[in-house]
Amino acid sequence: KRYKEPFRPQFHFSPEKNWMNDPNGMVYYKGFYHLFYQYYPNDIVWGPMHWGHATSTDLIHWKHKNIALYPDKLGLIFSGSAVMDLNNSSGLGTKANPPMIAIFTYHNMDGEKKGKTNFQTQGLAYSLDEGDTWSKYKGNPILGNSGLKDFRDPKVFWNTETNLWNLVLVAGDHAQFYSSKNLITWIFESEFGKNHGAHGGVWECPDIFKLKVANSNEEKWVLLISINPGAPNGGSGTQYFIGNFDGKTFYTTQKETKWIDYGADNYAGVTYNDAPNDKRIFIGWMSNWLYARNTPTKNWRSAMTLPRELSLEKLGVNYILKSIPVEQLKKQMISEFSKEKIDITAKQTVTIKHNNLNQSEIKFKAQSKDLKLIFSNNANDSLVIHYDAKQKTFSIDRRHSGIVNFEENFGKKIHKTSTPNIVSETIDYRILLDWSSIEIFLNQGIYSFTEQIFPKKPYTVLHIQSNQDQEIKNITINKIKEIWKN
Ligand code: FRU
Repeated sequence: KRYKEPFRPQFHFSPEKNWMNDPNGMVYYKGFYHLFYQYYPNDIVWGPMHWGHATSTDLIHWKHKNIALYPDKLGLIFSGSAVMDLNNSSGLGTKANPPMIAIFTYHNMDGEKKGKTNFQTQGLAYSLDEGDTWSKYKGNPILGNSGLKDFRDPKVFWNTETNLWNLVLVAGDHAQFYSSKNLITWIFESEFGKNHGAHGGVWECPDIFKLKVANSNEEKWVLLISINPGAPNGGSGTQYFIGNFDGKTFYTTQKETKWIDYGADNYAGVTYNDAPNDKRIFIGWMSNWLYARNTPTKNWRSAMTLPRELSLEKLGVNYILKSIPVEQLKKQMISEFSKEKIDITAKQTVTIKHNNLNQSEIKFKAQSKDLKLIFSNNANDSLVIHYDAKQKTFSIDRRHSGIVNFEENFGKKIHKTSTPNIVSETIDYRILLDWSSIEIFLNQGIYSFTEQIFPKKPYTVLHIQSNQDQEIKNITINKIKEIWKN
């Protein structure tokens, strides 16, 4: 089946129809990447949450599967994670056929309406057929609530250092860590965050994992925390902390707030359990709670970011979480334009006309000088991205990028980010456009920016400008093949 409605992404995951938000239960098993997601099957706005399900063998082509989890008398099925219980520690499968286990938040609407504060609890479900059908655990909830209004989004993983399961969840203004032998009985270990990081809104969708620091023997733990509102461009966004975790407590000396993405539309992202070759693969929801319900799509709403490989780099004393699209995307590319060098003269415009800009990758190396790229069409839409070398800022101006008036915050401001971590004499630009999104990666993911756009017609012209003489090298424009065709 192909999906060709206006604004439908052609190389990003989106649900066949109706509403989607957070990615959930990301786990790899026997050749398949499972992606579950917050799903409301009856409308294109948020409603009683289910877990939708899709699988992929390459993180690029997805197969839509049946709904995995339905609400029940304990509540709606909010965000959570999944693991393969390979040793059958839970006893819910066998060693020969280990259970896939989902741990998620039950959100009890009745309790919420009655003004109670314990309406979010954690539940467990298991599947003995690789995620196709699910049973809820009879003893649910496995983790009750002693009166925390926000108490949700458990991320579970196997800790190879302690040989125990760990769980991290969020409780309003902090994260809580638990451990377990069997995924059913959980012991509270510690909390983190009341005095750390951004607190402009409630904490959501945590994740924690260990990464090697590039070019060293050092390893660090990364804690992801989504927050809504309070993100740099308003609404929702995802911050991270670099530190250490001993299975019980997370420690950090980090003072400043760091964000995984400085665009407006990358939220609630988490990573895969058990991805092959020790890769740490991240997927985020490509929207923002400020306007997610109002975007101008018709029969479905919202998409996921490209799956991204995360890595850690140390610049001076500063640890940076980098993200770049997974390698597998390369096989979708068809080269349509390339040029070894383009000279830009100060204050003059270089124009490239190109038909498939809306479904493309644009790559080049520039000097770390001023540079402006303007995408436009004959419907008077223009999307402007700008590296301001003097201010050391990078900005995205989508105020006139297409349909913007569906919600007042969407096109109100230029999104400007200060970019102190650009320290090289050249800047690698990698830009991916997919009908209703743009993802920009600078210097192999030292900075990433993800934004939704809704051009009235496809962009067909790219203008390049600078206020200095500038030299652009190895520019390529690739068309990206659609993923739904076969
Ligand atoms: C994040 C979130 C989660 C919650 C889910 C409900 O976007 O608010 O905290 O579990 O969405 O759909």
